[in-house]
Amino acid sequence: PVKPRVIVVSNRGPLVWAERCSGTEKKVAVSGLVSALLPLFRTVHGVWVAWGGRASLPNEVGFLHQEGDLKWQEVPLTEEELRLYYDGFSNQVLWPLCHYFTEKCAVEPAWWEGYKAVNKKFAFFTRKVDWGADLIWIHDYHLALLPALLRQRGNEGKMPRIGFFWHIPFPGPDLWEIVPWAKEIIEGLLGADFIGFHTPGYVENFLRAATAFTVATALPGQKGLIYRGREVTVKALPVGVDHEFFAGLSRDTKVREQAKLIRAQVGTEKICLGVERLDYSKGVLERLVAFERFLEENPAYRGRVSLIQIGVPTRAGVGAYEELRRRVEDCVNRINSRFGRSSWTPVWYLARAYSQRELAAFYLASDVAIVTPLRDGLNLVAAEYVLTRSDTDPGVLVLSRLAGIAHYLREALLVNPFNIAEMAAALRSALEMPAAERRFRQRTLRQRLARRTASAWVRSFLQLALEEAADEVFVG
Ligand code: UDP
Ligand code: G6P
Repeated sequence: PVKPRVIVVSNRGPLVWAERCSGTEKKVAVSGLVSALLPLFRTVHGVWVAWGGRASLPNEVGFLHQEGDLKWQEVPLTEEELRLYYDGFSNQVLWPLCHYFTEKCAVEPAWWEGYKAVNKKFAFFTRKVDWGADLIWIHDYHLALLPALLRQRGNEGKMPRIGFFWHIPFPGPDLWEIVPWAKEIIEGLLGADFIGFHTPGYVENFLRAATAFTVATALPGQKGLIYRGREVTVKALPVGVDHEFFAGLSRDTKVREQAKLIRAQVGTEKICLGVERLDYSKGVLERLVAFERFLEENPAYRGRVSLIQIGVPTRAGVGAYEELRRRVEDCVNRINSRFGRSSWTPVWYLARAYSQRELAAFYLASDVAIVTPLRDGLNLVAAEYVLTRSDTDPGVLVLSRLAGIAHYLREALLVNPFNIAEMAAALRSALEMPAAERRFRQRTLRQRLARRTASAWVRSFLQLALEEAADEVFVG
């Protein structure tokens, strides 16, 4: 048996070029997609085709980088391509639409043209590295047209299987009506043989949208569609977390020391934690307001609890993110000047990216993780928090019902992230939860995650996507 040969294609790649005083250097990208895919390259022979997080000059060719086991074909994108395809169509049409922020969606034909052109560019680079792969595995909303583009051009030689994973929520047909090009987008996805989503709800929405906008017909039992004589299998297959990696970090003495340092520096009896890219879908402002409400209603907790809020800067080219950054800063300043004292900072706002090793120390240092997105495809931070804590020293997870992972983690303290009063009350319940209940919830949450490892996700996806492919392909 041989390991399958896989080409992974996504907009965000494993590494981003970062400007430093000393020149440019590569850093690991902050993205749930990247966290989920990095472990894949231990299992399969693969090449990752992706953008490098910087604007290229029009004549740049795009290099194939080798980083340990990882081969990365960089797709060079110019400033103009990024403006139309990334800042424009991906992040000001598809992202807000799929996260139900319809008021932030703009209908802009030039962005759509740019999106089509860049999808074609990705098709070109994917074919350039096509070395007879068993599977081309495409990821996320930036590249919805790629499956159909590759299928159209794939008639010379063997056609690899095409798999697609959609990492964000997938809304129903009523929302897709807002986008004049919904039909083309869904037809683009239907070029795949297998399409995965995080939850059964997104699968259902996709099947409804596909049958509403295209000639596809549903297979019985929500298993997929027949589209132009081909079967397209569709399944809920939430991404997993690298359990061993986080368990290892939680035992690491340096990480544990770092956690102690964090506790000592913050200096309060209890610490709450929020971790995310500073994205309006993550509910950071609402969480801050809920924390403020909690301090208002519970004077006894003033001076005894702090919130550490990590807000990783993201998508700087889009105005809504800049505006959110300003509003979050204002809100943090308001809470700190309203309640803070020389010996107590209510909110520690850390506006930078940390490595996952550093994050693990924050996970260990916190009594409560508040993961309250207004809408989220899955949310890996919630799972990482649970997996970093031990069953004997558990934290409490306050989790939004509107995060995809809430479908699987029912034993978290579930809240409606729009309901400030409910969140403030949940915070108090979390801080006061008896140890036995904390341990019970932690054990159950860990059991729920037990089967959902990063490698199991990859294995299941490959098995399903490679079904009917040559028998000799072994997914180990
Ligand atoms: N992350 C990180 N450094 C940070 C903040 C987050 O490496 O400073 C990682 C985190 O460990 C997680 C991912 O980024 O694996 C975020 O994934 P999630 O699904 O929570 O949200 P996304 O950013 O993909 O919307
Ligand atoms: C979400 C998306 C990913 C994306 C990540 C970070 O997780 O599903 O596709 O990579 O956010 O966003 P960015 O725009 O920085 O890649």
